[in-house]
Amino acid sequence: MVLALHVLNHSEVARKSEGILELGAGAGVTGLLVAKACGRPAGVVMTDGEHHVLELTRRNIEANFNEDGRPSCEYLRWGENVGEFKDKFGTFDLVMATDVLYCPEALEPFFTTVKELMSSKPSAQLLVSHTNRSYVPHYKVRKAGSKCGFKCTDIPLQSIPGCAEMSRATAADPRHPLLQRMQVFRFTLKRIIKSDPSS
Ligand SMILES: C[S@@+](CC[C@H](N)C(=O)[O-])C[C@H]1O[C@@H](n2cnc3c(N)ncnc32)[C@H](O)[C@@H]1O
Repeated sequence: MVLALHVLNHSEVARKSEGILELGAGAGVTGLLVAKACGRPAGVVMTDGEHHVLELTRRNIEANFNEDGRPSCEYLRWGENVGEFKDKFGTFDLVMATDVLYCPEALEPFFTTVKELMSSKPSAQLLVSHTNRSYVPHYKVRKAGSKCGFKCTDIPLQSIPGCAEMSRATAADPRHPLLQRMQVFRFTLKRIIKSDPSS
């Protein structure tokens, strides 16, 4: 929801993106909201690495979009058959993942999968919303991304309209610990600046 709010507040990002990919979509709230906002829902591919979860994703897509223009729903387990997936769907300008990084072992396959499937445009980006956990703290997510060649920028919740209010309202409320530990990260590919041999 937090990540979707960020994208909805920058709807030009979704509208200009050729291809939007969601990893670990689960029930699909993020992908569904972004698909509604981007103007081309058929350009959104929502994925998950569990077939039983995808059944729910698919039902939610069908409940919210007509057959003639709806996101697709595909099996994708990070690090597995990513080349085949790329052959079928190509690359994506916007990759999104909400609350999917809770296993330390999943960090490397997650980022290598994104690296393979994200387009090479300078504007291409990965947005991740992550809850700080003792076994996958924020710094480990940044570090794993950097190791795979990504530059990370933090997007504070306070800067996301809608979240700022939620965050303030729950600041002293122990019933909302997840929101207090949440962070949105934007990852873009590090660019290698080559020296000019003629200079
Ligand atoms: C906590 S749920 C979050 C679902 C949804 N993004 C949300 O925010 O409601 C995490 C999802 O990530 C998927 N997932 C976890 N590890 C995965 C992996 N290695 N490959 C693909 N999907 C994975 C799970 O199947 C699950 O649906």
